[in-house]
Parts: sequence; structure tokens; C-alpha cells
Amino acid sequence: MEDKTILITGANDGIGRATAERLAARGAHLVLACRDEVKAQQTAQAITSKTGNHRIDTLPLDLSSFRSVRAAADEFLAEHPKLDVLINNAGVYTDTLEITEDGYELQFAVNHLGHFLLTMLLLPALRCCRNCSRVINVSSALHFKGGLDFSSFDGKAAGKSYSGTKAYAQSKLSNVLFTMELDRRFGQELTTNCLHPGLVGTRLANKKAGALTSTVWSMYKPFAIKPNKGADTSVYLAASPEVKDVSGRYFDENQCLQKPSSIARNEQLARRLWEYSEQAVADFLKGEEE
Ligand SMILES: NC(=O)c1ccc[n+]([C@@H]2O[C@H](COP(=O)([O-])OP(=O)(O)OC[C@H]3O[C@@H](n4cnc5c(N)ncnc54)[C@H](OP(=O)(O)O)[C@@H]3O)[C@@H](O)[C@H]2O)c1
Repeated sequence: MEDKTILITGANDGIGRATAERLAARGAHLVLACRDEVKAQQTAQAITSKTGNHRIDTLPLDLSSFRSVRAAADEFLAEHPKLDVLINNAGVYTDTLEITEDGYELQFAVNHLGHFLLTMLLLPALRCCRNCSRVINVSSALHFKGGLDFSSFDGKAAGKSYSGTKAYAQSKLSNVLFTMELDRRFGQELTTNCLHPGLVGTRLANKKAGALTSTVWSMYKPFAIKPNKGADTSVYLAASPEVKDVSGRYFDENQCLQKPSSIARNEQLARRLWEYSEQAVADFLKGEEE
């Protein structure tokens, strides 16, 4: 993959880091887009030591801030004319309602809106690759438990009734709906797929979750697969010639095509989510088409 440039969000930990390591071993030029610049640079050095690949760059990116997403995209586009693969991997889980600086519920903002904005801003570089660029959205089988409540996106109505699991499932459902709509809109120019990585023993639910969730998550970990295995489907979708023309699909942890939930297949809902997201990030898309 020496001629490929691949940007991975949340590449300094868990599945994203394992994905980066595997793709670096194949010689790709990687851009690790992470919110913690120090951790990102340490990860880049560790990947270089392990794989011998020196083409590992870092890019500061905080997906909970539209301003940061715009700055990251501008920096990337100033230095790179093309992007072959975009892996929207970063994710957050929390039990506590948090509202971002832009006024959105944290999990919806990071897991969906930030990635939506990033993808829109990087479209010019993705389109440069002429029918061979790939967008990969790391969703979850938990999307099957998700519904879409547009009134909950700003978190205002939730108050004490906030459910972290419900908000997480909603954000992961949004990943699948975004995948399907991106394919409908840009399927002639790029491929877009999403995936469930499996139950993977990362620190996802140890970082911001409450004590109970964190304890339960830690109890599950011995039965979970390792991050390296959890990266299998992301690596497959990024690199395999088998899927070069496959788009608008949902894959499981064994790289098998699966039917996503019936809500995830609702075209009208996907269009509505797209329009909502476009409006939410509109101020940060300005200047792109000028
Ligand atoms: N683990 C599972 O069983 C599982 C199952 C289904 C789906 N997934 C999905 O897999 C993806 C990766 O999760 P993981 O399990 O590997 O968890 P993880 O180890 O916690 O990795 C998540 C990554 O996202 C980054 N991140 C969090 N908030 C961010 C923000 N505001 N801006 C930029 N980056 C941010 C984290 O940065 P820090 O290192 O700074 O925290 C970390 O690098 C997520 O999309 C998750 O929803 C995981």
C-alpha cells in the first residue's frame, strides 16, 4: 500500500491504534488524527519502531469541537492533495450527559457529527483518487438497539433521564445511516462502508463511563477479542481488492456482509439525518465551495 495515504481518527488507542499498526506494516503513509498530540506522537514513534515505516504523521483533532475538526481538515488539505482511505474510527462512551462547545450531546457530537464534518471537508482530497478512495465508518452491533430521536441531539430534553447506552446506540446507528446516505450521494466517486469490530477488549467504557459500567466492561474484557483482531474488518475494508467496488454495506467482525437494522436501512431517515447534520455544521463548511 506504499502509494496510499490513510487517515485514521482515534489512532492512539484500542482498535484505531491496531488498525494503524497493521496498515503501516503494509507500507501505507498514515495520518494519525488524535485529540492528544503527545500520545499521537508517541504512537507514531512506536509504530515506526515496530514496522520500520517512517511515513507516520500526526494531526491534532478533537471531534467534540467543530472548530478543531475544521482546523484539522484545513491542515491536512494544505499538505496532502489526495486521501485514499478515511477511517472514521474514534469513539466515546459516557454515562453522563455532556454538552459540547457547539451545543450537542457528546456521543452524538463525537461519534457522528464530528466525523460527518470531517468527511465533508476531506471530500476534495477523497475525490482526487478518482473512483478508488474508501471511507470506512466504525459503527457497532449496538446500532441494532438504537433509535433516532432528533430532539435528543442537543441533550437539552434529557436532564436526569439521560441514558448513556441509548445515546451511544443512537450515535452508532447514525454511523450506519451516514454510510448509506454518503454512498447514495457520492457512490459514483468513492466507496463507503461501515462495520462492527466485534466485542473488543479496549478501554472504551473505562474512560468516561460511570463506576458500574466501567466495572461491568472490565469483567467482559477477558471474553473479548484483542484490539489487533478487532482491527481485522477495518484493515480488510481499507486494503482488500475484494471490496474495491463494494459500497453502502455493513460488515461484521468476520468481514462478512450483514444486513443492518431496519431503521438503519430507512432512506428517508438517512436523508433527514444528513440534512440535520449539514445544517449543524454549516458554519464550518463555509469557504469550501468558494
Ligand atoms: N471496543 C468494542 O467492543 C467496540 C465495539 C463496537 C464498536 N466499537 C467502536 O470502535 C471504535 C474504537 O473504539 P475502541 O474500542 O478502540 O475504544 P478506545 O480504545 O477508547 O479508542 C477510541 C479512540 O477514540 C478517541 N477519541 C475519543 N474521543 C475523541 C475526540 N473527542 N476526538 C478525537 N478522538 C477521540 C480516543 O482518544 P483517547 O485515547 O484520547 O481517549 C481513542 O483514540 C469506536 O468508534 C467504538 O464505538 C468498539
